[in-house]
Parts: sequence; C-alpha cells; structure tokens
Amino acid sequence: MSVGSANPGAAEVPPLREPPVAGGGVPVLGHGWRLARDPLSFMSRLRDHGDVVRLKLGPKTVYAVTTPALTGAVALSPDYIIAGPLWESLEDLLGKEGVATANGPLHRRQRRTIQPAFKLDAIPAYGPIMAEEAYALVERWRSKEVLDVTAESFRMAVRVTARCLMRGSSMDARAERVCADLATLFSGMYRRMVVPLGPLYRVPLPANREFNRALADLHVLVDEIVADRRASGRKPNDLLTALLEARDENGEPIGEQEIHDQVVAILTPGSETVGATIMSLLLVLTEHLEVGDRIREEVRTVVGDRPVAFEDVRKLEYTANVVVETLRLYPAVWILTRRAVTDTELGGYRIPEGADLIYSPYAVQRDRRSYERHEEFDPDRWLPERAGNVPRYAMSPFGVGNRKCPSDHFSMAELTLVTAVVASAYRFAHVPGSDLRPRIGITLRPRGLLLRAVPR
Ligand code: HEM
Repeated sequence: MSVGSANPGAAEVPPLREPPVAGGGVPVLGHGWRLARDPLSFMSRLRDHGDVVRLKLGPKTVYAVTTPALTGAVALSPDYIIAGPLWESLEDLLGKEGVATANGPLHRRQRRTIQPAFKLDAIPAYGPIMAEEAYALVERWRSKEVLDVTAESFRMAVRVTARCLMRGSSMDARAERVCADLATLFSGMYRRMVVPLGPLYRVPLPANREFNRALADLHVLVDEIVADRRASGRKPNDLLTALLEARDENGEPIGEQEIHDQVVAILTPGSETVGATIMSLLLVLTEHLEVGDRIREEVRTVVGDRPVAFEDVRKLEYTANVVVETLRLYPAVWILTRRAVTDTELGGYRIPEGADLIYSPYAVQRDRRSYERHEEFDPDRWLPERAGNVPRYAMSPFGVGNRKCPSDHFSMAELTLVTAVVASAYRFAHVPGSDLRPRIGITLRPRGLLLRAVPR
C-alpha cells in the first residue's frame, strides 16, 4: 500500500520508521564486500537485524527485505517494479525490451505473447523431447569415466529449452556456445551488481575483455537463430513463431530489437536456472544415496520396466518432492531486486521513491523460523500432511505475483523427468577434484562437480 493512501487524520497510525542499518559495512564498498565474499550467510543473517534492513552497496543504499510475508508483499505490490542492482547488472545481456526486464503495459503484452507456450495444456507436447533428452543423457554417460557435471547440466538445459520452445534452430553446436558465454556473463554480472563501480568494468582488463566477448557472441547467436528461422520460411507452433508473429498495441509487427531481447529473455533464464538446478539435483543424489534408491523404487512401482514417459511425471510424487526440496535448499534464483516507484511503507518502515530493494529466496527458504531442521534435506516435508505448516511465501523458488516465472510447470516437469530417469539408471560418486562448494553469481549452483556415474 502506498503512503499516500493512508488516512492522514488517523492519529493512532504510528509514524513510519527508518529501517535499521546492517552492521559490517566498510568505506567505499559498504556491504558490497560481504555480499561479494560470503553472500549466502550474509543474506541469511540479515533477518536477525530486522524485517527490513538498510545496506550500502558502493555509493547506493539498498533495502534488504528478510521475512517471507514482506517478500510476498513486495512481489505483489504495484509500488515496486523490476529494476534495481540485479536487473541493471543484467541489462547488457537482457536489453530493456524483453519480458524479464520490461515493466508496465509492454510487460503485460509480452507475457500475453509468451504465456500460451507455457500453459499447463501446452506442456505435454514437450514431453517426448524432454524424455528423449533425458535418455540421451543416460546413453552419453555410459561411455564417460568422469562427468563434468557443469557442462552436462547446462547442455541438457539449453537443448531442452531450444528444442521445445524454438524447435531446433540447429542448436547442437550453438548449445555449447550458449553455455560457455552464459558462464562468463553470469559471474561477471554478479560482480557488477555487488560492486557497482561502473568505470572499473570499462578498463580493458582480461576479465572485462572476456565478458565483452561473451556478450557480443551471445547477441550474434540470437541474431543467427532469428535469421535462420526467417530464412527457413517455417512457422512451427512454437514460442519463436509466437514472438516473430507478435503484434503491438496498434496491431503492428513488433520491432527487431524487441524480438531479439525476447529471445534472449527466454533462452538465458531458461538455460541458466535449469542447468544450475540439474547440478544441484546431481549433488543431492551423490550426497544422499538413499534418495536415489527411493526414486528408483518409485519409478519401478509407478512405471515398471518400460521407459519413464512424460505422462508418468504427475504420479512420481516422491521424485517431485526431491525436486522441490532441492529448489528449497538450492534455489537457482537466490537473489531478487525491485525498485519503489512511489514513497511507500513496508512492515511499518518508510521506503522512499526510487529505493532499491533486495531479497533472497535462499535466505527465506532456509530460515529456521519457517522450517524445522531447516538445513536438512527432507523431501517428505512436502507431503500434503506436512507441507501445510510452511508459512506463506516461505517457499517461492519461481517467484510470486505478476513477475512469477512463466516456466514453473515446464521446469518442474523437465526436472522431475530427468531426475527420475538418471536416478533410475545410475548412482553417483565424487571423483578427485570435484568441488561441491556453492558458486554464487547471479544464480546459485555447485562450483564444479566431477562425478562418476555407476550403472545400477
Ligand atoms: C522469471 C526462477 C526456469 C523464463 C523468474 C523468476 C524466478 C525464476 C524466481 C522471477 C523473478 C522476479 O520475481 O524478479 C526460475 C527457476 C527455474 C526457472 C528456479 C528453473 C529451475 C525458467 C525457464 C524459462 C524461464 C526454463 C524459459 C524457458 C523466465 C522468464 C522470467 C522468469 C522469461 C521473467 C518473467 C517476467 O518478468 O514476467 N524465473 N525460472 N525460467 N523466468 Fe524463470
């Protein structure tokens, strides 16, 4: 609710407070150095300082929101838009005209364009592709002594997104390029977010040159995908056709820049988040062998000896709960930002127009106030008789409100299917050099898993 809507005559309304400032800031970088050095525990401890806490990121003041209820309130309120440090750091990549970064009427029109491709009744059509890719992974891993899980997971994610939503687009060679480019871009963008010292990133240092090269390559790739589709004259019933055929409010075709930004806005989050989550799922299967055993049992009971098909997914309840619990403890989108477009209040605190807000699904989803044995991996906490105890908005890995991920059902189907297929075929073990520590960039994932897949 905006401040202006409060009744000025109501004497009992307490005056709005300034949120407390978090401790531990240093000159110039403020809290940015802690966000850069140990962001997960820094964000997780902020709730002990208050429901809303002020941080300094370089010269900026940023408001951290720490409770499930208030993060839900921010996501649902029209007083905030998509902007702030996260989105600014992503702008070079996502542009300003794609669905992930647009606001207002442009965003609403774009959601209408892409929504049909993600509707519940559209998803079964992707089932055979998802299943084919999952079984291709099982075949591929048969001949590999060591799995480079980062490369394998991102490859799978890019292929499924591209094959389902863009019907091919010669993605075999391109998938490798997209993965390499995104890896460089997502870690560079995180640095730009927490240490927003613009001129530093224009100095021609090797890291900056590499970042610029990856960015340019990704944009070239997207132009190639669009040009190929146009040249082919094909109009399959997919998301790319929907984007190319979309009309603006006046019934005119949408501009080239918007088409470009839209393709980036689908391909990029689609690949990065699912790739990161597949990595986390493989970590879980390696660390908790009993989880893989139970998945295999469930698949045997539900499916028998035939291959798992998309139609089986909704019956694989335990497997789906493993995916949900993985998204709780390792949410790929671990940090989100918004900007206040008006003077407003949040939890009794004053939020000035233009303020940047930051909140962390990771911190919220691991909070001991919301979850018993909050750090423990326990898929059964999502059984219907227990899931009701979870406070509202304490589990929102796909976000809340009008910016909620359009791909929540698509992603859950893909992740449940791939988990069922690979856990039924293999047990996993670390090999020397495997690094399971979190790698924190714009997304969260294990740093560098190297695994052996042992056939069951
Ligand atoms: C938005 C998470 C997969 C496309 C979001 C948001 C979250 C999220 C939290 C909301 C951001 C906010 O509130 O500011 C995830 C997770 C995924 C996943 C955890 C998988 C595990 C995908 C896939 C695609 C996709 C596969 C596309 C193929 C998008 C788009 C938006 C978005 C376009 C922007 C929506 C808007 O602003 O209206 N995602 N996502 N995501 N996601 Fe996903």
